This record gives sequence, structure tokens and C-alpha cells, in this order.
Amino acid sequence: MIKVAVPITGKEEFNALKKVILSGKFVSGENVKNFEKEYAKYIGVKYAVAVNSGTAALHAALASLGLKKGDEVIVPSISFVSSATAILHQGCIPRFCDVDLSNYCMSVESLEKNINKKTKAILPVHFAGSACEMKKIIKIAKKYNLEIIEDCAQAHGTKYFGRKVGAFGKISCFSFYATKHMTTGEGGIICTNDKKIYNFCKVFRNHGMKDRDTHFQLGFNYRMSELNAAIGRVQLKKLNKINRQRINNSLYILNKLKKTKNSNNWFEIQKPIKHIYHTYFWCPVRILSKKITIDQVKNRLKKKGIEIRARYKFPLYGQKVFHKMKNKKTQDYKNLKLLNSEKLAGKIFGLPNHYKLKKKHLDYIVKTMESLFEK
Ligand SMILES: Cc1ncc(COP(=O)(O)O)c(C=O)c1O
Repeated sequence: MIKVAVPITGKEEFNALKKVILSGKFVSGENVKNFEKEYAKYIGVKYAVAVNSGTAALHAALASLGLKKGDEVIVPSISFVSSATAILHQGCIPRFCDVDLSNYCMSVESLEKNINKKTKAILPVHFAGSACEMKKIIKIAKKYNLEIIEDCAQAHGTKYFGRKVGAFGKISCFSFYATKHMTTGEGGIICTNDKKIYNFCKVFRNHGMKDRDTHFQLGFNYRMSELNAAIGRVQLKKLNKINRQRINNSLYILNKLKKTKNSNNWFEIQKPIKHIYHTYFWCPVRILSKKITIDQVKNRLKKKGIEIRARYKFPLYGQKVFHKMKNKKTQDYKNLKLLNSEKLAGKIFGLPNHYKLKKKHLDYIVKTMESLFEK
């Protein structure tokens, strides 16, 4: 079986962990501090705060802006659920905008149409290693006086006009979940150039604690442990190399798939926007045929020994968690139908692109894709 993802950790991570275990210092030590400094430098921002998940990072980011009950945050409807549930955690209202049919990221036109008096922030998601139209999003944010929180959980090292994503918004959030570009096991990080936000997030992740006996704001236990940070420091050193391998494999497959006529034209490949350095969290493909379902593709490829990443069967507004929301919403989620989101949900998937794949595997993936629905 050609797996869609393989472990990217090894001896170096093991040795780093061993050191922490032998030291007995598991919390708030040098690894977390140094990992934050190193990650901030990598992204090109002044500050970073490490937390224990990407979702915790998003929650802290929303809280740091002082967003209140009833405030709206605009988020694309094709993403992982916590891009939007983090908004609920803060008592705010997600307002779903459509995505672009070619690159699967937030549609700038739909974003602007969804702004109203309650809107306080925009939460663009750099989908599957791609990047959003940040220049246009920043222009809109300035026009309506809105904050930007970038969700970079799937885009470590992705660049837009030469600058890393995560350095554009007031705040940005990354996840280090096991299958991401780099991992800490579980984990996340908040990046910002704003000292106040940095200070807020440090306290927010640690029970709202100023010192051992003073708790002056509501907080959580969102701390990253020394164990996770130690893995992260090793992984960060490898990140560019891991990304280059992902990129090379993805481009090899996608360029071949672009050139060949697939039988019945049942799929097309993603068309990212220009001027980006795409890090291909997914090697992204869209099913064009109305008759072909994601499960059929998944099962047929599985039979041929190829595993895929098939996610986002429904647009986020189709998830019951949002229908049950108590806050007064300005969108009827249950009956919402955003044109492109409806076309993409359950129709996009990622082919294997990890570093262990050899040319023969890549060629096999291409050949199998081309003939998958041959009569
Ligand atoms: C776009 C996006 N946002 C947020 C998250 C949440 O990250 P975590 O799983 O670390 O909480 C993920 C993780 O899968 C994600 O893909």
C-alpha cells in the first residue's frame, strides 16, 4: 500500500525526547522558549507562543483580540472544523464565506459580500499548503477596519510574494498535529508582531496566571510541554527539506496529470494563485464528474494499493454543531448553499506525496489515476 502519510520522526527526535525525560523538567523550560524563538524567526515575526494544539492557538488568537459574544468572524466553509469551532469557543459567530473553485481557498468576492456591522475579524485558511489572496484580503480588512487571523495549520513554510504565510495577519496560528508538514505529536503555535497579543496569549495558555498566586484573566491549560517542544525544535530544522520533497513529488505527479487526458476527464488538478510557494500539504485533485463520488475514488485507489486523503465531505455550515448554536446568527446555516463550496465538498482529495516515495511510486500513481475510470 502506498500510504498517504508516513512518520517523519526518527532518531534525532528520540534523542531530544530522551534528554527531556532524563532532565525531569517537563513544563515551561528552555525547549519551549527556544522553540518559540526559532519558530518566530522561521516565519519572520517578532513573537511566538507555543500551545498544545492548533485549535488552542486559534482560540487564544480570537480571545487576544478581545472579541465578544455576538461578534462575527468570517471563515471559509471548506476547512477543518476547528477553523470555525474555535470561533464558537470564544462565544462569537462564524459567518461562512465561499471558496475559490480553482485554489480552494477563501473567495475574496464572497468575503466582502459577507461583511456586516457585526463583523470583527477575517479568518483566512491557507488550504492544503496553498495560500490565500492576502493582498486583497488585507485591503478589505483595512477598508472595513477588521482584524486578520491567518489559519496556517496546513501551510508551514508556504510563501506569498516571497514572504511566509503567518506573517501577514495581526495573528497567525499553526498546528503541529502528527500528519502536518512538521509535528510535535500534538501542538500548535501563535505568531504575531504585536507585543500585547504576545503577552495576552502567554497568560491565556497558562490559567490566566500572572504569577503563582495571581490569576487576573480567564485562561486555560493550553501549554505545550517540553517533550513536544523538543520534538518541534528538531522537526523545524528538517522542515525545509521535508517541504522540498513534498513539493517535488507533488509537482512531478501534478505536471504529468496536467498533460495527460484522463479518461472521461473525471478530475482536474488544483490551480493555485500566482506568486506563491506552495508547500503541498496535499497533492490536491478535484473530481469533476458528477457521477463519481469520493468513496468510489477512495475504494478504487485502495484496491490498486494507493491511499488518499479524502476530507471535507460537507461544507462547514452543513455540520450539526453549527445548527445547534445558541447565539443569534445572521446566516441560516441549515439552508445555506454556497455555490463553490457545494461543488467542492466531497469532491477534493490528496494523493500521496511524502518523502519516502520513489519515482516508480509516483509513476504508478499517475498511471493509476489516468485509467481509474476507463471503461
Ligand atoms: C485548517 C486547520 N485549522 C485548524 C486545525 C486544528 O489543529 P489541531 O488539530 O492541532 O487542533 C487543523 C488541523 O487539522 C487544520 O487543518
